[in-house]
Amino acid sequence: MLLKNAFIYTDGSFNSSDLLIINEKQWIVGKNLSSIESKQVIDLTGKYIIPGLVDVHVHLREPGFDYKETILTGSKSAAKGGFTSICAMPNVIPAPDNINSIKMVQDIINKDACINVYQYGCITENRQGKKTTEFSMLKDYVTSFSDDGNPVSSDLVMKEAINKASFNDVLIAAHCEDFSYDDPRMSEYMNIKRDIELIKDMNITCRYHVCHVSSKKSIELIREAKKQGISITCETAPHYLIFTNEDVISENFKMNPPLGDKEDKQALLQAICDGTIDMIATDHAPHTHEDKLSGAMGVIGLETAFSSMYTYLVETGLINLERLVELMAINPATTYRIPGYSDFTVLDTDADYIVKADTFLSKGRNTPFEGMRMKGRIIKTICKGKIVWEFTQ
Ligand code: NCD
Ligand code: ZN
Repeated sequence: MLLKNAFIYTDGSFNSSDLLIINEKQWIVGKNLSSIESKQVIDLTGKYIIPGLVDVHVHLREPGFDYKETILTGSKSAAKGGFTSICAMPNVIPAPDNINSIKMVQDIINKDACINVYQYGCITENRQGKKTTEFSMLKDYVTSFSDDGNPVSSDLVMKEAINKASFNDVLIAAHCEDFSYDDPRMSEYMNIKRDIELIKDMNITCRYHVCHVSSKKSIELIREAKKQGISITCETAPHYLIFTNEDVISENFKMNPPLGDKEDKQALLQAICDGTIDMIATDHAPHTHEDKLSGAMGVIGLETAFSSMYTYLVETGLINLERLVELMAINPATTYRIPGYSDFTVLDTDADYIVKADTFLSKGRNTPFEGMRMKGRIIKTICKGKIVWEFTQ
C-alpha cells in the first residue's frame, strides 16, 4: 500500500512525505516514492499520518459480560477510534489469573479482534487482593498486571506484588482507591502515597503505573515522586480533562474515580503540558442503560477519544498535535512495550462532526460526549499493514 502526500509523523515531527507499507512489520517513509511495487495507491494530500493510537485501559467485558461489550465489538470500536493496540482490563469472568483462563481469552482475541489486543493478568487471585498470582508463569501471556476495578488494599500483598513485578520486569497498573476514606480524592491520593512509600522503602525499581488519575493532590504527589527519580508513570482519561463535577447531568457522567472540580481539571491540564501525565487512556467502560440506571460506574470513550482530545487540547492551543501523538501513541507503546507493527492512523484535522452514540460500533451508549461538536476525524486505521477501518461519507 502506498500513501502519498500526507504529513507523516516521524521522530517527533511532521513532514510532507509518502509512506510505503511493505508488510505487517516493514514500511518506508520518503519523498516521491514510486508506486511500481504497490497495487494500492491512496492520495492523502492535506491529511496527517500518525503511529497507530494505543489505549492501555479498555474494558472489553468478554468473557462474562458479553451483553455489555465483546472482543469483537470493542476492537471494532477501537479501530474506528484510530486505535491499533489496546490493553484489555482483567475484570471479566473467569478472571485471567491463571494460564487456562488467560488462554481462553487469547483464543477469542485470535478469532475476533480486528486490531492488536493485549490482555492484562490479575495481580491477585480473582482480583480479591489476598494472594498474588504467579507472575513468572503468566508474564509471557499478558501485557501487564492489574486488579482494575479493585485496589490492592493490603500493604503486605502490594509489597509482594511490587517485589514480583520488579523481579520479573513486568508493569503493575494500579487502580488506586483507599476504602478507609469517603472523599474520592483522599481515597485516590492515600493509595498512590502508600504505593510510592512502599517502593521507596523497598528500595527497588518497579514498573509502577497509576490508572485513571483524576485529582490535583494525586498529580502533585506523582510529580514529586518523579522528581525524586522513582519509576512511576500515569494516565488520565479524556473525561477528566473536559468535564468537572458541575457538568454531571446524567448517569453517563458517573465513573470511578468521579469527576473532580475546576482545580482538579486545571491541575490535570497542567500535568498534560509539563509531562507529569505520561499518557491518555480512555477507561472505556461499556454498560447497558439498565446497568447505568442501577448505578454501574464508567463511561465509554474509544470512538471519541482522539477527536475530544484534538478539540479540547490541540484546537485550544494548549498542546500541539505532536504532543498529543506522544500522549496517545508513543508513550503508552513505550511504557507497555507494545510490539512495533505497520500500525498507522490517518487523520483529517479539518473535519468536524457531532457525536451521536447511536452510530457507535461499541455496544455501549454510555458516553458523556453525546451531541458535542468535535474537530478532527479518524479517516483510516491501518493495523499490521491492512486497513481495518475507513471513514466513508
Ligand atoms: C470500570 C468498569 O466499569 O469496569 N469502571 C469505572 O468507572 N472506571 C472499572 C475501573 O476502571 O476501575
Ligand atoms: Zn480502575
